[in-house]
Amino acid sequence: MNVKILEISLGTRRFGKLFQYADLCRFVAEPELIAAPPPEVLSLSMVASDPSTQAALWSDVKNPLFNAQGGQLPRFFQNLLPEGVLRSHIAQLRGCRENDHFELLAACGGDLPGAVSAKPVSVDRGTLQRLITQDQDALEMSVVELPMPQGISVSGVQPKLGLRRQGGRYVARTRAGASTRVIAKLPVAGRPHMPQLEMLSLQMARAAGVEVCEAELAPLSAIKAEHSYALPDEPDFLAVTRFDRDGARRIHFEDFAQVLAVDPMHKYSASYLDMALAMQAFPSLGESAVLELVRRLAVNDLLGNPDAHLKNFGVLYADGIAPRFAPAYDIVAYAAIQGVDGHALPLLPTNAAAPRRTALFTPANVRAFCFSTGLHEPLVRRVVTDTARLARSLWPEMIDASTLPLPWKKRLQQRLQAHPLLQGMTKRGK
Ligand SMILES: Nc1ncnc2c1ncn2[C@@H]1O[C@H](COP(=O)(O)OP(=O)(O)OP(=O)(O)O)[C@@H](O)[C@H]1O
Ligand SMILES: [Mg+2]
Repeated sequence: MNVKILEISLGTRRFGKLFQYADLCRFVAEPELIAAPPPEVLSLSMVASDPSTQAALWSDVKNPLFNAQGGQLPRFFQNLLPEGVLRSHIAQLRGCRENDHFELLAACGGDLPGAVSAKPVSVDRGTLQRLITQDQDALEMSVVELPMPQGISVSGVQPKLGLRRQGGRYVARTRAGASTRVIAKLPVAGRPHMPQLEMLSLQMARAAGVEVCEAELAPLSAIKAEHSYALPDEPDFLAVTRFDRDGARRIHFEDFAQVLAVDPMHKYSASYLDMALAMQAFPSLGESAVLELVRRLAVNDLLGNPDAHLKNFGVLYADGIAPRFAPAYDIVAYAAIQGVDGHALPLLPTNAAAPRRTALFTPANVRAFCFSTGLHEPLVRRVVTDTARLARSLWPEMIDASTLPLPWKKRLQQRLQAHPLLQGMTKRGK
């Protein structure tokens, strides 16, 4: 029976081995991790609620967190894979199937989101026996190829490239000199103006008090890198500066599908309350992160972004240990385009199918949210009102000044004016 193995590290620290064997994929923590759990966090989903049980959690090889079957990877790792057209592109370069998740992870193992790496490793007989506890006699290790230099994994379904900005050029690799890592979100044929709409949305979010990642529109002609995308006749793409890279340094990051151990296929499941409760469990996130979440939800509601799913929020570990709410990204006012409305997730867990189209912040919802999170209700209401007030006073000029088509601008203005969160407010007042 063949076994494929990848060594998983966080920065320079080895965390464990991920192996695929028959139908099973399992992560097994390094013995030294079990002997003395380090302070660095691979995933909040793998932090024991009581520190004294952390070693027991790492040694619990059968825990669902560390296991997957049927060609899937354990959830944390499945969420590291490229999605959409980037996945097809990587699969093609690697010569593997798009659903060969283990091979895709290996292909991108040198440049995964955050500070994780996955490298092929060969282990001795003893280690192999330790990993594969349900030992069989004829175990054989398969060779896993090295990560590809072009293997950059970024999740998300929109077409994108991982590039470096050097001067005014966007290149795949630099030979010398400093460069900044960016995610190039490309325009798509048949969906004009999306980079401009996303840029405006990020600026509007910032104006409303949200901490937003750095991004800029750049001409498509500035991309000096080989790629296989057919680029439409559009002027610009959106260059998003990566907050999980600082020169050669990698800053660990994970998204909320990883924090909550949710498969990426189910990124529209769970609720914003689930995210808030996870934040409340860690002091470095806590109340201020929940209030920032509320601010972002108010912005999404006001500008009409129905795509704020679990993978569109994350945490960043500047010191490798204490998570902070990562700056906001992927905010797009889809409501500028006709017929788009609703929310990616409900505020509260619900069994009903319809509520995503209904208001996010009803008084009853806000009360229940505050009750469950232990937040002071007037504080939460205040964040929503302050956000709406900033939007009301700053957005109309921003929308007017944008280069978007007139009907889109009109729709955004009308949505804002009619928005329930703004009722009873005057433009310059309060
Ligand atoms: N500024 C950033 N720094 C580091 N990582 C980022 C940044 N912005 C986004 N990411 C990561 O890249 C992923 C893809 O980016 P983004 O969400 O903008 O793409 P998308 O294709 O529009 O996503 P979706 O599938 O939600 O439409 C995010 O889920 C996040 O993990
Ligand atoms: Mg996204």
